[in-house]
Amino acid sequence: MRTDDILGAIGGTPLVGIQRLSPKPEVRLWAKLEGQNPTGSLKDRIALAMIEDAERSGALSAGMEILEPTSGNTGIALAMVCARKGYRLTVAIPENASEERVRLLELFGAEIVFTPAEKGTNGSIEVARRMVASGKYFMPFQYGNPANPRAHYEGTGAEIVRDLPEVTHFVAGLGTGGTLTGAGRRLKEHNPAVRVVAAEPELGELVYGLRSLDEGFVPPVLDESILDRKFLVSSHDALRATRELTEKEAIFAGLSSGAVIHAAKRIAAEIDGGEVVCVLADGGWKYLSTQAWSVDLDMAEKQVEETLWW
Ligand SMILES: Cc1ncc(COP(=O)(O)O)c(C=O)c1O
Repeated sequence: MRTDDILGAIGGTPLVGIQRLSPKPEVRLWAKLEGQNPTGSLKDRIALAMIEDAERSGALSAGMEILEPTSGNTGIALAMVCARKGYRLTVAIPENASEERVRLLELFGAEIVFTPAEKGTNGSIEVARRMVASGKYFMPFQYGNPANPRAHYEGTGAEIVRDLPEVTHFVAGLGTGGTLTGAGRRLKEHNPAVRVVAAEPELGELVYGLRSLDEGFVPPVLDESILDRKFLVSSHDALRATRELTEKEAIFAGLSSGAVIHAAKRIAAEIDGGEVVCVLADGGWKYLSTQAWSVDLDMAEKQVEETLWW
């Protein structure tokens, strides 16, 4: 592959077999490795799509600054795209964001506004909404921006159709809902029998990158009519599956990928045969400080329980 600049290296991620995790040979499991994007997550796709959409529509013009409330992957992706395109970016993030995330934002030149830890990402959204009222900023707002699901419709979903036309199930985590809505829609257009399955954290459990709809906020970009099934996953289930992915398939992915694998294995146990695609949203690098891969499982579980970080 050859490209003029780093933005051309976004998307086109590999789809790799993870058959050692399947409970039966008739059900084939596949992993879409979104950690292979330039900043290591699927959010590179939507960062580029939201910025270029705003450039085209005129919502973003030279001299304007960009502002986004984001706890991590989207901020880092926007920071990379803004660095390349020459925009100034400010991100509002909870003050307990992990050090890896803060450092990555800083190295791409983003300005950081810290918001109270106890308010989580909703606190960051509140602060960003107040700041944007000044008129100085363009806020892409991934939760409500149609360019988010569109990036997954045109990219993620289309790539899966091309690489595995016989796909029967699509499993992804629910954060903004952009992946499930966009890629899910594309797959159902290809074959209406494709089942779209969401992995969602149990209420009150933290699986980084994912959110529970039961908390009360339904992101505007989520089209719930695309979802056929929803699995609630605990942070322990996500942790164990993330470790299993590394142990059995030598794939190093983040904790939301564990939640997706957990849901995919439950689907696989229910069906007689099929081709199940799992979206692994990011690589494991930004989670090393959590001790998730510690040889001592009890320690890893305790750490996941006790660490409140974003
Ligand atoms: C690590 C991780 N996994 C999964 C997701 C969910 O993706 P989406 O926002 O498209 O629902 C996100 C995004 O918020 C994420 O950061």
